[in-house]
Amino acid sequence: MNAGSRGRLDQTPEWNALAKHREELGEVQLRKLFADDPRRAERLSLTVGDLHLDYSKHLVTDETLRLLRALAEATGVAELRDAMFRGEKINNTEDRAVLHTALRAPESAVVKVDGENVVPAVHAVLRKMQVFADRVRSGDWKGHTGSRIRNVVNIGIGGSDLGPAMAYEALRAFTARDMTFRFVSNVDGADLHEAVRDLDPAETLFIVASKTFTTIETVTNATSARNWLLTGLGAGEEAVAKHFVALSTNEEKVSEFGIDTANMFEFWDWVGGRYSYDSAIGLSLMLAIGPDHFREMLAGFHLVDEHFRCAPAEENVPLLLGLLGVWYGNFHGAQSHAVLPYSHYLSKFAAYLQQLDMESNGKSVDRDGRPVDWQTGPVVWGTPGTNGQHAYYQLIHQGTKLIPADFIGFAKPVDDLLPGLVAQHDLLMANLFAQGQALAFGKTAEEVAAEGVPAELVPHKTFRGNHPTTTILAGELSPSVLGQLIALYEHKVFVQGAIWNIDSFDQWGVELGKVLAKRVEPALTAGAEVPGLDGSTAALVARYRELRGR
Ligand code: F6P
Repeated sequence: MNAGSRGRLDQTPEWNALAKHREELGEVQLRKLFADDPRRAERLSLTVGDLHLDYSKHLVTDETLRLLRALAEATGVAELRDAMFRGEKINNTEDRAVLHTALRAPESAVVKVDGENVVPAVHAVLRKMQVFADRVRSGDWKGHTGSRIRNVVNIGIGGSDLGPAMAYEALRAFTARDMTFRFVSNVDGADLHEAVRDLDPAETLFIVASKTFTTIETVTNATSARNWLLTGLGAGEEAVAKHFVALSTNEEKVSEFGIDTANMFEFWDWVGGRYSYDSAIGLSLMLAIGPDHFREMLAGFHLVDEHFRCAPAEENVPLLLGLLGVWYGNFHGAQSHAVLPYSHYLSKFAAYLQQLDMESNGKSVDRDGRPVDWQTGPVVWGTPGTNGQHAYYQLIHQGTKLIPADFIGFAKPVDDLLPGLVAQHDLLMANLFAQGQALAFGKTAEEVAAEGVPAELVPHKTFRGNHPTTTILAGELSPSVLGQLIALYEHKVFVQGAIWNIDSFDQWGVELGKVLAKRVEPALTAGAEVPGLDGSTAALVARYRELRGR
């Protein structure tokens, strides 16, 4: 489906109605909205699966929400969503279907791409992963010397790294604590060095994760890892089979690299890299948490997929989140969006979302290649609270920028936390609730003055408030809840891309840098002449060579 023939977004009556509404609304006062409607928190809360979502602290009225939903309707979000679930080729610049939802569909589902049901193949790979994971975890899979595997190193980058690395951290409490898991992505040799320096090659399994199997960082690191292994074992190529497996769509390249394709776990071109950690790309995670937990996570994803597909607009959580982002980005000039999990286990969550959101919606031409005149994807950032509170929250509270934020928290700490530390959980969550409150309602100059603060300090101690936040609360950070959270954000990104009429599933913007790096490298190593090199880069290359003593 090519939605490109659609009229210009900013010329639709629905867009203009929102612009007018924004003007009329002026500076919304959250204090007033809550005072006028004692049931606001209750009314502006939704539930999906285990996730409770409070969006009452947003700068919206019922009319705002109505107009936003009208925009979604006018821009065909539901039609594009249905086309995606049906397996139509909605990634039009790459002529591909977008079917990460098929990765977590039950075995009985039928999802066709080019007339072929893809679900049986998805489940066949899941079973193959399960057999392998069970063998490694039980010690049945032996390394070349007969030792059992105790260390797993995932080598991949972007979507072939961020998802498994994030989910491994998130689900640490569910992992095999007697095994070591590491994730190597950077072509900086320091990354691989630090990952393997204390490992015994005889006990180490490398998982080379690359959709294309042509990514220079991954192929380079995988080659170095193979050298490290063979040198360490004092063995020849025959040792590779027991210590290397591949996750890829590219059988030919895997085989060329020297990995037996029997040790390859397949996925398909209709899985985008940043949407792939619930495919074979999640093998390292499955090894860590075990196949049952992995399947629980898939069920969590699926639950939110079904909600997104079927829930009416008024109750559709991903739709709502997408629309709120449009409200701030397009009608309030917000440039960024903070994601602030009150869980140490979600330390890589924002980094994961950066690729998901920014690689998907960092586009400036529409599906027809016409420049867009409206803001598209925001800068996504964040770190776990409470650390952020003692770093950048100052700017959110009292700076000049509007930064909508998501708070994510859990009622229960993870099960295996040391008993003495469980009590800290209430303090952690008290901070989450306090921050949402302070950001929304602030502290007026009158309130500050009434505390006896000297007049000259009153402006400094005043909090403007009216900073919009969403609070997502769940019982605990389980595999299913993680799946639910990720699916929520995946579909939020989808909604925004659909409204902005951009292709959220290509990533041409990463190509130029790759080409130029290849061109410049010989200049660094061999001093080769690079035709057409600009003055700045040429001077930097010369300086680099001088510093390297070349
Ligand atoms: O360079 C961007 C990108 O193509 C991402 O979209 C992708 O997740 C990453 O590189 C890694 O790609 P691959 O899995 O093919 O190695």
